[in-house]
Amino acid sequence: MRKINFNAGPAALPLPVLERAREELLDFQGTGLSILEHSHRGPDYDRVHTEALSLFAELMDLPKSHSPIMVQGGASLQFAMLPLNFLRPGHSADYAVTGHWARLAFEEARRVGAARAACDTALADGRHVRVPKPSELLVDPRAAYLHVTTNNTIFGTQWHSLPDSKGVPLVADMCSDILSRPVNAAKFALIYAGAQKNLGPAGLALIAVDRDWLKTARTDLPDILSYAVHLEARSIYHTPPTFAVYLVGLQLKWIKANGGASGMEQRNKAKAELLYGTLDRLKGFYGAPAEKESRSLMNAVFHAASPELDDLFLLEAEKENLTGMRGHRAAGGMRVSLYNAISLSDVTALTSFMESFAKRRG
Ligand SMILES: Cc1ncc(COP(=O)(O)O)c(C=O)c1O
Repeated sequence: MRKINFNAGPAALPLPVLERAREELLDFQGTGLSILEHSHRGPDYDRVHTEALSLFAELMDLPKSHSPIMVQGGASLQFAMLPLNFLRPGHSADYAVTGHWARLAFEEARRVGAARAACDTALADGRHVRVPKPSELLVDPRAAYLHVTTNNTIFGTQWHSLPDSKGVPLVADMCSDILSRPVNAAKFALIYAGAQKNLGPAGLALIAVDRDWLKTARTDLPDILSYAVHLEARSIYHTPPTFAVYLVGLQLKWIKANGGASGMEQRNKAKAELLYGTLDRLKGFYGAPAEKESRSLMNAVFHAASPELDDLFLLEAEKENLTGMRGHRAAGGMRVSLYNAISLSDVTALTSFMESFAKRRG
């Protein structure tokens, strides 16, 4: 029996995607080979690859000025590639430090060149419970770029409107909310996201870049680290993670069939309303530290009255086939990830369990 999977990433994949992959695993579309066995230079894989790139561009509603790229190495490689390409000596880049991953991105940039925190929302104990108010974001108008993390996976906070970057090129780590809602891609110089939450399995990052901005990138980098080289090579500069690309393509088709980014947003809002509504109603039993205006539609962080009760919650939930909810060690408690593949009925199963647990243990 399949469990309901609230893991933060790698995360739940839509069942039809897994079923389709199973159906074609041994013989991909009558070719007599698995997609796992096809050459990345052959026409069969090329169709898969091209379709994944173009579906990503379509669903992100990328303007003509922007191009999609796929690169191995997950989002952490992007933490390094971004400053390597765009943070030239003598310049500085701004980072909005709103969570664990935002801080890692910032620290990685500081290894490459000068980087500055345009805000830091950390509490004294290191946790983050909100994104900054517009007045708290102090952008250096000469910065090479402003980097934001649109959804803070570990602390369960999310930007609900775009920050004003004051004309500075805006870059976003959208790992945990990409294609969970529509965004105006034209406002971003570069967007990146690891696939393993909303788009498919682990193994690659999807990127959207403004080609004019890309013209300002350094050209003296090793090829493998250059966005321009990956773009020029249509993301086949070297062997891509072909199976991951194939699965991302299947998931993008599933997103398209379910209403695209706005369809996902409707679905995600309904799930988050149900979960946060339950937490608010049971607030004598559960605590949810993120400030209401900053609550993430993707990751809900909460806890019961004690770490022992949290453990019991997780143990009993497992018996109900509800899995993957242990919070990150930096936040503690529980974290429920409500990515695209999670359905409203999955969340209904969870909220019923939360109600009964609170009744029994409260
Ligand atoms: C917002 C965010 N950025 C970056 C990362 C790191 O991604 P990866 O493990 O693909 O390097 C994560 C992983 O969970 C994340 O949630």
